[in-house]
Amino acid sequence: MSEAIRAPRGTFDVLPEDAARRDALEGQARRILESAGYRRIETPAFEHTELFARGVGEATDIVQKEMYTFTDAGGRSLTLRPEGTAPVCRAYLEHGMHKLPQPVKLWYLSSFFRAEAPQRGRYRQFWQVGAEAIGSAQPEVDAELIVLLAELLAALGVRATLKISSLGTAETRAEYRDELTGYLRAREDQLSDEVRNRIDLNPMRAFDATDPSTRAVMAAAPKLLDRLSAEDAEHFAEVRGLLERTGIAYEIDPTLVRGLDYYTRTLFEFSSDALGAQSGVGGGGRYDRLMAQLGGPDTPACGWAAGVERMLLAAGERPVTSALVDLYVAVAEDRGVPAAFQLARDARRAGLSAQLELSRRALRRQLAYADRLGARYVAIVGESPEASRLKDMESGEQRELTPGDVIPAILRASRLS
Ligand code: HAM
Repeated sequence: MSEAIRAPRGTFDVLPEDAARRDALEGQARRILESAGYRRIETPAFEHTELFARGVGEATDIVQKEMYTFTDAGGRSLTLRPEGTAPVCRAYLEHGMHKLPQPVKLWYLSSFFRAEAPQRGRYRQFWQVGAEAIGSAQPEVDAELIVLLAELLAALGVRATLKISSLGTAETRAEYRDELTGYLRAREDQLSDEVRNRIDLNPMRAFDATDPSTRAVMAAAPKLLDRLSAEDAEHFAEVRGLLERTGIAYEIDPTLVRGLDYYTRTLFEFSSDALGAQSGVGGGGRYDRLMAQLGGPDTPACGWAAGVERMLLAAGERPVTSALVDLYVAVAEDRGVPAAFQLARDARRAGLSAQLELSRRALRRQLAYADRLGARYVAIVGESPEASRLKDMESGEQRELTPGDVIPAILRASRLS
């Protein structure tokens, strides 16, 4: 026998017992986002590589090391989507959504791909729920998005803390970047090799460093929040003011950095202690320059994404009620198969959930299996051509009924109970 093939490292199967919790999460996301006017969008699983190179940023870890990129038969470079914001912006431009009333509010639940080192809460194919509001620069957009993510996490039972910051505009960031680069260059000998090698590429990432010496340097480093222009500071103050009205607790973290280059102004992240090293449950921010970077007109926008697996991990085990089985159709003798087959189908058409015996087990084992499923009734078909036995699994009571009476009897009983 040849060796069995396993799923690639960092990927996982969603088994039926996991699917129930994921369905429940999807239901909550749909309820919360659609009641705020977000409409679902789905973009392709792969895009032109250039979309992410331009959109996410050449200097990011995502583009430099984590993309699954391949050349197709036509010689085009394609990439499995590592994130959803750039594709949604591409779709907005491609379909002329600027003609719709603004902002255009979109949500998605899709899978994404990053070649990261797998560990708990970090996979190579993972799912995100995301929301993007495109076409308004107003601070209420940012605050409302944050509130919606907080509501989703609360509905799932995820306890997470919120950190927010503001990056200002690209100009402020460029000036600040020069200042920070100068500061880091003057202290190169105290920095880790990794941070030193990336000073020019991405000096902000130094705030993420974990080694004590770099951290000491960064504690005293100039902060972007102190360099914001008056309008950006006002925008940030308005976002905070709206959050305060809702009573959502947050912490301002001037060193907050996220692994994507498109952010301007508001930046936020929810994290959970339940997750260990991969503490980020979800996050996002404003990205007012992205649309222009992708070749479109200047269009302000804001959004977030939250990891499905991380939300489920952080929510912990919660009992999920298993699907109800109203009727199990057992087959006493093989000659009863056609009638049983018909009964199961008729029961479903009458609105009942009905399962048919599919393995032709001994009747005793069929009843044990129906019991394990939690079936409310079992119809035993095939003992005689004229009658089926209907067993109430709660009371144990059994009745002989003509085949046509089985479904009405169940429906009548369920109306009475
Ligand atoms: P992100 O922070 O890269 O942002 O990803 C969002 C969330 O996806 C993370 O907080 C985490 O829960 C989950 N996630 C990321 N990588 C993995 C992984 N390898 N395994 C499991 N879960 C993961 C974005 O992707 C932005 N597009 C968010 C955004 C939308 N910004 C504006 N709009």
